[in-house]
Amino acid sequence: MARILTGIQSSGIPHLGNILGAILPAIEMSKSNKNESLFFIADLHSLTTIKNADKIKHNTYATAAAWLAFGFDTKKNIFYRQSDISEVTELMWILNCFTPYPMLANAHSFKDKSENLSDVNSGLFTYPVLMAADILLYDANIVPVGKDQLQHLEMTRDIAGTFNHLMGETLILPESQVTENVMIVPGVDGRKMSKSYDNTINIFADEKSLKKQIMKIVTDSLGLNEPKEPDTCNIFNIYKLIASDDEIENMKKNYLNGGFGYGHAKNALLELILKKFSAERKIYSELIKNTEEIELKLKEGSEKAKKIASSVLQRVKNKLGI
Ligand code: ADP
Ligand code: TRP
Repeated sequence: MARILTGIQSSGIPHLGNILGAILPAIEMSKSNKNESLFFIADLHSLTTIKNADKIKHNTYATAAAWLAFGFDTKKNIFYRQSDISEVTELMWILNCFTPYPMLANAHSFKDKSENLSDVNSGLFTYPVLMAADILLYDANIVPVGKDQLQHLEMTRDIAGTFNHLMGETLILPESQVTENVMIVPGVDGRKMSKSYDNTINIFADEKSLKKQIMKIVTDSLGLNEPKEPDTCNIFNIYKLIASDDEIENMKKNYLNGGFGYGHAKNALLELILKKFSAERKIYSELIKNTEEIELKLKEGSEKAKKIASSVLQRVKNKLGI
């Protein structure tokens, strides 16, 4: 049985790129009987950049509601909020004492953030140590991450290796599994869909706002009657990621035959999203109105997570004589 663990920063409502590129593949992997998955909302990490209680709460609920709407099985797996397990910050302190200062000073993400953010706090600096604690506290074997997180995974392995070398075999060294490039969903401007580019499609939005986002998709200026090239069109490139083979074929014909404008294509995409994700949209909107249900699920998950966390932390403390 492999233990798969991954954290999701609660930085907003998951968009179509997050859903197709991260949430659905992770849920698929969690279904195997050979795996046990731990998915958590990394709210402590988001404190490095967000200092607003309502925002942190809302983002946590929105992220949790998206995972639940897409059917993440919280009975088979463990779904929790990072800050509910206080052992993680205790382990982080211990790991800090096994982390060489230059390793953190040379981290790409710290260099990048410290050059671009106005609030360069120590949390940004020790971010990778909290991430190492997230992983090592649960004896995780596999950690699915985007490419940008690979260096953090290497640091986790280095910190665990140093601890084991000095104190004796204690911590499990995790393997990373890169999920980047499985599928890159383009945004409304044709670049990679990302919160940072403000080019996202939020499939949970009400129909009016969803339509507004889709109408923003950038196209060339070919007229209604002219035949169009599907493969270079942003609308088609988003459409094909969620449509069935028949729908894709039909849409291709429409493009190539002419007499089918970009407005028609945008409406077809809107209709497809509403149809394809109608069940998930319904669950999401119910959950987001009734956050006690989300709290309940997170609480159940925290109880399961806490059991593993307290036993691993005890193992670490025994080695240290504390
Ligand atoms: P964002 O770029 O919006 O800030 P994150 O960096 O928080 O998104 O990514 C969260 C997860 O979603 C990661 O696993 C990442 O690989 C995946 N992801 C983000 N954007 C896309 C996209 N456009 N296509 C596919 N996967 C994506
Ligand atoms: N830093 C990760 C990100 O920004 C989120 C994260 C926090 C994480 N702790 C983790 C991912 C532990 C994997 C394992 O995407």
